[in-house]
Amino acid sequence: MHPVSLESFTKKYKALVEARLREAVGTLEAPENLTKAMLYSLEAGGKRIRPLLLFAVIDAFGKDPELGVDAAAAIEMVHTYSLIHDDLPSMDDDDLRRGKPTNHKVFGEATAILAGDALLTLSFNMLADIPDEYASDKVKLSLIKGLSKAAGAIGMVGGQVADMEGEDKELSLEQLEYIHINKTGRLLEYSIIAGADIAGATAEQKAILSKFAYHIGLAFQIRDDILDLEGSEDLIGKPVGSDTENHKSTYPALLGLAGAKDALENHLQSAKEALASTKLEVAVLLEIADLIGLRNY
Ligand code: IPE
Ligand code: IPE
Ligand code: MG
Ligand code: MG
Ligand code: MG
Repeated sequence: MHPVSLESFTKKYKALVEARLREAVGTLEAPENLTKAMLYSLEAGGKRIRPLLLFAVIDAFGKDPELGVDAAAAIEMVHTYSLIHDDLPSMDDDDLRRGKPTNHKVFGEATAILAGDALLTLSFNMLADIPDEYASDKVKLSLIKGLSKAAGAIGMVGGQVADMEGEDKELSLEQLEYIHINKTGRLLEYSIIAGADIAGATAEQKAILSKFAYHIGLAFQIRDDILDLEGSEDLIGKPVGSDTENHKSTYPALLGLAGAKDALENHLQSAKEALASTKLEVAVLLEIADLIGLRNY
């Protein structure tokens, strides 16, 4: 059995990535208001699910999760930038994020947009600067290439565009799945595959982890959509009812709340089943899967 509980794993590795983020942004010789805006959203909290997935995958291979600290920080930068932009008036127009006023509410729209841009570009610098003893040049190149795909037009940004274009429409389940897989799933998948790359996984091991990631990505966003309907603002730290207000296509809108909960349960089960065929030490990963599917924050 794995000796580490999810609680102690989370505490240790959240602290590690948060220290790395603070160091990376805090030492930039950039306009003070820009670094303040970047740190404001980075340090507002957040579950750090993507870093935890990356660390847990490295751990599953019996390697030191700390090898992934720079990649984890890079992913959290891209994720935080996506949230800053997602909340803008021209997108979801939300006032609360991670329990605090959204970035544009505090710093203004122009600085919020630029803070997002700076986080996105800094993420690639983080990957290029990974110390040689943590990753070979070959692995670093694969990490950079993977993030550029997952975050861009054939990943998160493409999904965000489809999400906006889907407002006021009743989409097919296939169209909705495309949105979820891209706007949310690709970066979660990247977190998992980046961990596998750092740990030296085989192609076969990566294929199993990709299957796990596909179901985890869908489960994560379906849970997010459910929480938009029946979550508590205090716990989720963002407005409840934003999707309804914006006439978004979501799983609950298409399948009803009970249908969305069934779909979530199915994807969670499939994610866990995908891991059953590996010889890796997946106890922590399985616990994170449950956290993703069952969370109320
Ligand atoms: C929110 O992501 C945006 C989605 C992709 C649904 P998280 O729920 O991981 O947000 P934080 O990082 O914990 O704030
Ligand atoms: C977010 O989807 C996807 C992103 C890439 C940020 P949502 O718009 O549902 O995320 P929340 O609910 O605002 O966190
Ligand atoms: Mg959105
Ligand atoms: Mg939103
Ligand atoms: Mg949402």
